[in-house]
Amino acid sequence: MSKKSQNVASVELEFKPARKFSKKARISSLAQYKQLHRESIKKPATFWAREAKELLWQKKWSKVLDWKAPNAKWFVGGKINVCENCVDSHLINGRANKAAIIWEGEPGESRTLTYRQLHREVCQFANVLLAKGIKSKDRVLIYMPMVPEAAIAMLACARIGAVHSVVFGGFSAESIADRLEDCKAKAVITSDGGYRRGSVVPLKANVDEALKKYKGVETVIVYQRIGEKVTMKNGRDVYWHDEVAKVSDQHIAKGFDSEHPLFILYTSGSTGKPKGILHTSGGYLMGTYATTKYIFDMQDDDVYWCTADVGWITGHSYIVYGPLANGATQVMYEGAPNFPDFGRFWDIVEKYKVSIFYTAPTAIRAFIKAGDQFPEARDLSSLRLLGTVGEPINPEAWMWYHKKIGGGRCPIVDTWWQTETGAIMISPLPGCTPTKPGTATLPFFGVDAAILDETGQECRAGEGGKLVIRQPWPSMLRSIYGDKKRYRDTYWSDYKGVYTAGDGARKDKKGNFWITGRLDDVLNVSGHRLGTAEVESALVSHDSVAEAAVVGRPHEIKGQGVVAFVSLKGKFTGSDDLNKELRNHVGKVIGAIAKPDEIHFTTALPKTRSGKIMRRLLKELVATGEVTGNVTTLEDVEVIKSLQESLKK
Ligand code: WTA
Repeated sequence: MSKKSQNVASVELEFKPARKFSKKARISSLAQYKQLHRESIKKPATFWAREAKELLWQKKWSKVLDWKAPNAKWFVGGKINVCENCVDSHLINGRANKAAIIWEGEPGESRTLTYRQLHREVCQFANVLLAKGIKSKDRVLIYMPMVPEAAIAMLACARIGAVHSVVFGGFSAESIADRLEDCKAKAVITSDGGYRRGSVVPLKANVDEALKKYKGVETVIVYQRIGEKVTMKNGRDVYWHDEVAKVSDQHIAKGFDSEHPLFILYTSGSTGKPKGILHTSGGYLMGTYATTKYIFDMQDDDVYWCTADVGWITGHSYIVYGPLANGATQVMYEGAPNFPDFGRFWDIVEKYKVSIFYTAPTAIRAFIKAGDQFPEARDLSSLRLLGTVGEPINPEAWMWYHKKIGGGRCPIVDTWWQTETGAIMISPLPGCTPTKPGTATLPFFGVDAAILDETGQECRAGEGGKLVIRQPWPSMLRSIYGDKKRYRDTYWSDYKGVYTAGDGARKDKKGNFWITGRLDDVLNVSGHRLGTAEVESALVSHDSVAEAAVVGRPHEIKGQGVVAFVSLKGKFTGSDDLNKELRNHVGKVIGAIAKPDEIHFTTALPKTRSGKIMRRLLKELVATGEVTGNVTTLEDVEVIKSLQESLKK
């Protein structure tokens, strides 16, 4: 380590992996990484054909890639069952009695499923789905707490070729209804509730509410987690435990086309309507398998823990598909990091001897604030590798993670990727890449990342531009569900044949990528994507609101906080009560994560002469209190003063 000053933010610290770590790692030198990366870009078919041999194919593919931008087909002609790879394959490779999932509930109970047990449960549930008439390509919405049954439900869908769409348990009934409507789901799998920070989240009640709006659901399967009484509609709603008791625990997994749809996951974009990101089978499994193997350097004796929720892409790729395809042992935790206090995560690490730990910068910042006494009181010596995901990590948080959690000995993989990319795209390889606080470092195998300026030229070292990927990769999204045009327009229209990520970044002289954040109107709140347009349309759906503009403000723990400016209809006046009511309204329309941190009532919003809201000015105003940028296009300069006033209140 080279250390020039005590001020973390102003110097560039560099950490090289310890020799002890590198010796055992899959990729142990930068030269080896470079050689493989070069091959993966110059000869992707050679590279991926070799990797794909590690998966279980029911029929081998005839061609690795068919690419007619922006449409990719990977492992063309291959037949594969993703679930069989994650579960059955381990029954014949000596891992049958290895723990697959070690689950801990928020109240403290614990449950372990070996691969053999997981296989039985998945087969049973696949038979339940079949008995309920679910067929290949039917969409199934999953709205579950963090219990093993969430993973079992996803795997059972994959097993029979049904397409799951998991909705995060924090989303509202209206959000569920919108997603059901968009994907025309036939069934819903949910639970009577889940525990979060000591209270019960009423999942089934939210589903009931959503199903008043969307009528196409024929079956609702309810897993009993809490034992609460819930309303069950005759002929539609059934209990998980009743149904599994009726079916066999044997099921033969059949192979599906490599491009068979695996899941749809909704994510925010720059319009009010979330996008259903579509992933398919062979390529997605390849990407999540390979990244788990190389980036987490997953070994058979590791105990891996990813703290994400299965409702986000991180939970799909790095709780369910990647780790299970690698035959990993993983911890799954139901509840909040601060329940009963901020020591909970570290208790879990100590209790199960977690060796690989993957979390979000926002959680790290909350831990820093809570105080060092929590990790210091636990034995964290089992940890050997740490990871982060979801947003840029500030150097202070990186250093704290490194010292207080990693004891100075664990490499940190800062992993950049997206719902759309399916798998990690830019990240250190822990056995060879020198890391620096704040950079996700180098592209993974097969990832041709670059930074381009407006004209499509590659930026020079140190110069900021748009982060793009110039070649297709196996786990890439295939479309926005039902909207090929939006797919093309959103991701492939800035530069011909090139994927635009929507993030800004720069590259240093050593080729490290420094991600600076979203370039579009998408906020990153506690590592979760939130479209400003979504929050605005939720606000204007309230009777009192004439117009709304939403921007992000830097936030100490959440990364970004949500700030809304609202102008009211004539007969309404701003008050604390209305402020509260509007916040709750957004919670009801989208979910609690979208509730604005601040709502400011204003008589007018800054607009151009053609009537467009100038968000740039609002952003500057909330960040600095001033507007220094060009205001010549502003229709009414007085608006700025009134906004400054409203911010002071
Ligand atoms: C941001 C989460 C900096 C980025 C897997 C991206 C990051 C968006 C990082 C995707 C990182 C994710 N460093 N920024 N390591 N990881 N992001 O779809 O803005 O929920 O575009 O996927 O999160 O969010 P999503």
